[in-house]
Amino acid sequence: MAAIYTTSDTPLHKLSHQHILSVEQFEPDMLESLFARSQKMDRQVSTGGAEPLLANRVVANVFYEPSTRTDLSFQAATQRLGGRVITTAGGVHYSSVTKGETLHDTIKTIASYSDAIVLRHPDRGAARQAAEASDALRQTTGRPVPIINAGDGIGEHPSQALLDLYTIKDKFGANIDGLTIGFLGDLRNGRTVHSLIKLLALDKCRVKVACIAPESLSMPSEYVEFARSREMPVSETTDLQEAIRGLDVLYVTRVQRERFVAQQLDEVAASVFGQPYDSLDGPRKDAIKPLAELKAGHEYLSARDAYVVDPMMMSLAPKNMILMHPLPRVNEIPEQVDTDDRAYYFRQVQNGLYIRMALLAAVLDRLA
Ligand code: NCD
Repeated sequence: MAAIYTTSDTPLHKLSHQHILSVEQFEPDMLESLFARSQKMDRQVSTGGAEPLLANRVVANVFYEPSTRTDLSFQAATQRLGGRVITTAGGVHYSSVTKGETLHDTIKTIASYSDAIVLRHPDRGAARQAAEASDALRQTTGRPVPIINAGDGIGEHPSQALLDLYTIKDKFGANIDGLTIGFLGDLRNGRTVHSLIKLLALDKCRVKVACIAPESLSMPSEYVEFARSREMPVSETTDLQEAIRGLDVLYVTRVQRERFVAQQLDEVAASVFGQPYDSLDGPRKDAIKPLAELKAGHEYLSARDAYVVDPMMMSLAPKNMILMHPLPRVNEIPEQVDTDDRAYYFRQVQNGLYIRMALLAAVLDRLA
């Protein structure tokens, strides 16, 4: 049952010239309008090409962390709408960031050359700081340059949550009341599930959420409370075999190895020196690194194999369930599962293009 949206673009105009930092900016009418636009983008791309809504617009992609889908789908979205993309040749590691330039200065510089900035950064809150830098520049130029958060550390990843919800509705229809959605894996560090649990609650759909994770990687209480305070029931378990039987959607996440070292550095710094890692001098930082890396490696290895959704596990799942993953996967879904009709992760990849086309047209005020 494909979702049917009967709405105008009017609610989407609220996004024009706005930074996209968190899913908290989205209300149900805006989501409906964004999804209607995304469907239109899908139709246009499949039948020969989209309107050049971003002609003469330049979008800067600035990625301080690795990315395949988010980076390239935003680039493809811009170009399919007739806009152009700038990036630093060779990535930010070849920009002045390696010379010690602050995020504030980097963003003010890039905002001088572009109409919107798509930013991925390892620090939670970095997108908000970038938005402040862009606003500071606007004081002098009068020209808004929206920042789109393409993932800020363990914080949020709003455009991913938008394409995830769009994909769920693609399967079950625009009204998803009554569904049970399971989140599996590293729920502590996975920014995609942080954004998606909030977005489901904000969309006021009456779904239930089941968080399935090892205790050490459970969903942070701030997100559980956010959902519960909006009357969305959230259950927590470590038992995938039992939980999978009652799910309509299973959303799997990768164990976020890169976050483990950062956390261990802070923990070891606190226990050895009684101070946060960032406040230590060079020799003290160097002294604790090997221990933190060892502890992180040990923690990662025990978490990595905790859950694998293989054909055996899929045989326990309902026939109509869909299996989602933001990708990249490591070993949590083996490739044999890809031929199962319920595997939806490459549809998510595809939908990411249409959602990002619609989002860029909205923030650049080009919803002609
Ligand atoms: C995710 C991310 O970067 O948060 N990837 C993505 O954007 N599709 C998920 C991940 O890295 O595990």
